[in-house]
Amino acid sequence: MEMKELDDLLQFCADKYRQIECENCTHTEKYSSTCNKECYNCLYKIHRVCNHDVHYSCERILHRYVLKFQLRYASETARCFWHVLNDRGTNEALSVYSLGCGPASELYGLFAIARYLSFPTDRVEYKGFDIDGKWKVINDVSLKSFKTQNVSFEYTDMFEYINVNQVHVNILVLNYVLSDCMRYDKEKTSLFLDCIYELLVSHQVDYIIINDIALYYLDEQRKSAYACMNDLEKKLVDNHISVTIEKVRYSDPKVAGVEMFGKKAKFNTNMFTVPQAIYGYQPFLLCDSIAMIIKRL
Ligand SMILES: C[S@@+](CC[C@H](N)C(=O)[O-])C[C@H]1O[C@@H](n2cnc3c(N)ncnc32)[C@H](O)[C@@H]1O
Ligand SMILES: [Zn+2]
Ligand SMILES: [Zn+2]
Repeated sequence: MEMKELDDLLQFCADKYRQIECENCTHTEKYSSTCNKECYNCLYKIHRVCNHDVHYSCERILHRYVLKFQLRYASETARCFWHVLNDRGTNEALSVYSLGCGPASELYGLFAIARYLSFPTDRVEYKGFDIDGKWKVINDVSLKSFKTQNVSFEYTDMFEYINVNQVHVNILVLNYVLSDCMRYDKEKTSLFLDCIYELLVSHQVDYIIINDIALYYLDEQRKSAYACMNDLEKKLVDNHISVTIEKVRYSDPKVAGVEMFGKKAKFNTNMFTVPQAIYGYQPFLLCDSIAMIIKRL
């Protein structure tokens, strides 16, 4: 489908990526001798499961991230939102909070599917939270595109925000944030999951969408979002919290002998038109994640 807001964001990132020279870039100096002006090399290193300290430290890398992943992640989350929106009446308002929103691909997935299902978008509220203010250059473009909608970004702790403001959240989205957290601090992620569990128990959220990388490792060094999803599910079941849990995979594990995750999604293609300007950046055009949708009963 055509989505002007997404086209504009991709065009913005393509322009910025070309303009930023990265002369004396601290990232390249410190971590990457192989960037060679192709920051997908930098991204690839950051995203490796064995990386535990290198972050998205330069703006050029952020634009490259959007060029490579935004279409895929927006398509993956759009399909998750499809499940939830279909489950709810269109007369109800819908608040969607994203934890670790980064460049907010899920914002695009959300509005795309709301429009597709003729869900009144003036009743949709999106709030993106990230502790890293570096994404602001990108999120400001989204803010401008969605200026007639109820869209905002907060560079603060979401759990604190929810507590202070005593808000009720219809959908909480964790889109590639658990894998990010697990890379840098596994103990902190565990506390983080406890907070999410508490939000469900106390009925402060109705649905949780977790969409993340399909890596099935369970060893201490490499375990990632998959282990977190399992832990959260187990805790909910063990404590008899009334929920339904739906699990979907967009592709099968790449190695043999691994247990399948949930049911295979019917569609795994990119849902959006690909602007000419970004062909050269070889965007991922297939959904490839695992997703879990928890509904509090
Ligand atoms: C891989 S990126 C974001 C993915 C994103 N949703 C997208 O659209 O592509 C993960 C983000 O999670 C953020 N993050 C990690 N831990 C966090 C925390 N405790 N609270 C909020 N954000 C966090 C990071 O700063 C990073 O920007
Ligand atoms: Zn740089
Ligand atoms: Zn680079």
